[in-house]
Amino acid sequence: VKVRVPLDGRAYDVVIRSGALRDLPRLASAPRGTRVAVIGDRRLMGSLRRLARDFTARGHPTTTIAVAAEERLKSLREIEPLYGKLLRAGLDRHATIVGLGGGTIGDAVGFLAATYLRGVRFVSVPSTLLADVDSAIGGKTALNHALGKNLIGLFAQPDLVVVDPALLRGLDRRDRISGLGEIVKYALIADPALYRLLERNWRRLVALEEPLCTRTIGRCVAIKAAIVAADERERTGLRAQLNFGHTVAHALENVAGYGLLRHGEAVIVGMRAAVALSTARGHLAPGLAQRLETYLASLPVPDHWQRYSANRIVAATRHDKKRGAHGVRFVLLDRIGHTVGDDGVSPEMLRAVLRRVGFRR
Ligand SMILES: NC(=O)c1ccc[n+]([C@@H]2O[C@H](COP(=O)([O-])OP(=O)(O)OC[C@H]3O[C@@H](n4cnc5c(N)ncnc54)[C@H](O)[C@@H]3O)[C@@H](O)[C@H]2O)c1
Ligand SMILES: [Zn+2]
Repeated sequence: VKVRVPLDGRAYDVVIRSGALRDLPRLASAPRGTRVAVIGDRRLMGSLRRLARDFTARGHPTTTIAVAAEERLKSLREIEPLYGKLLRAGLDRHATIVGLGGGTIGDAVGFLAATYLRGVRFVSVPSTLLADVDSAIGGKTALNHALGKNLIGLFAQPDLVVVDPALLRGLDRRDRISGLGEIVKYALIADPALYRLLERNWRRLVALEEPLCTRTIGRCVAIKAAIVAADERERTGLRAQLNFGHTVAHALENVAGYGLLRHGEAVIVGMRAAVALSTARGHLAPGLAQRLETYLASLPVPDHWQRYSANRIVAATRHDKKRGAHGVRFVLLDRIGHTVGDDGVSPEMLRAVLRRVGFRR
């Protein structure tokens, strides 16, 4: 499967194929003789080494840098030494940087590639289900600041994204469910047929059955690519659809810290709140909301988030980075596959809904 991300002037391809990693040096088509740096999650050392060997065999002097994929990596302090490594390895502005790992690596190495010598070629190779369908697509790079997450960064589209679902086999179950959370999000905001498929087959997807897995990733990438192409820099509000379930997810991550739940797990909890709000605000029929709630509640997410009080979550939504002039704008559903923006959710209504989905009083 190949999806083209159609940005004016800088369109690029997302290649999605089991085994595509072995083909990467050819797909990357870096100019002959230019230098390459392969920077990736040290848990994927075997793949990093193989990739470096393949680039070297094609005539590219290649440097390999393995880093720990921890949220801490996403900081100016942690990436500063990497610039020195690239400079000492002699990477010039014709060089290519390959980032291999999950969203942590993608955010940090994407930033590095976009700022090293004012930007060099960047090939992104996501290795988690979440990164395959979400963070690797859309061109957001991000580092954290002591005052908050993802506050430093730039929009920088990669030159190529290569998704190899075979890489996901080592991924643990919670990280797979985390990716599933974002996949369900795409279905609910844009694709009723995908939603029906997930209701029946999410276990087979999480087990990485083919061709289901490749096809589903391809569909999500196409949905995200279309939304990003329509609103690359979050100006028209179209890209905001991607925040379905995220207002409460971000609030929960803020209150509980980032270790409690994987991002996509928090999104599953956040989507339950968004579905209940959609009905409370009169957008979504109660029967349909019940069907969605039953499905979302059946997905295996650890339930220790229930110890946080609805009040604290409500307070945390007020700090949401994406809040607008009129406060927090919720992305809600009026049917499966279609969203509405709504500024009219009162704190009282949100509190009541959060209690209903399981937050403490
Ligand atoms: N830029 C964006 O648009 C965007 C969107 C969503 C999330 N993000 C960011 O992505 C990050 C989370 O991404 P993530 O969930 O992919 O996390 P991650 O990169 O931290 O990976 C999760 C865990 O899986 C391990 N891992 C990665 N690939 C593996 C593989 N193939 N086999 C076995 N283990 C593997 C990692 O070592 C890590 O322990 C957050 O920092 C978040 O802010 C960015
Ligand atoms: Zn998300």
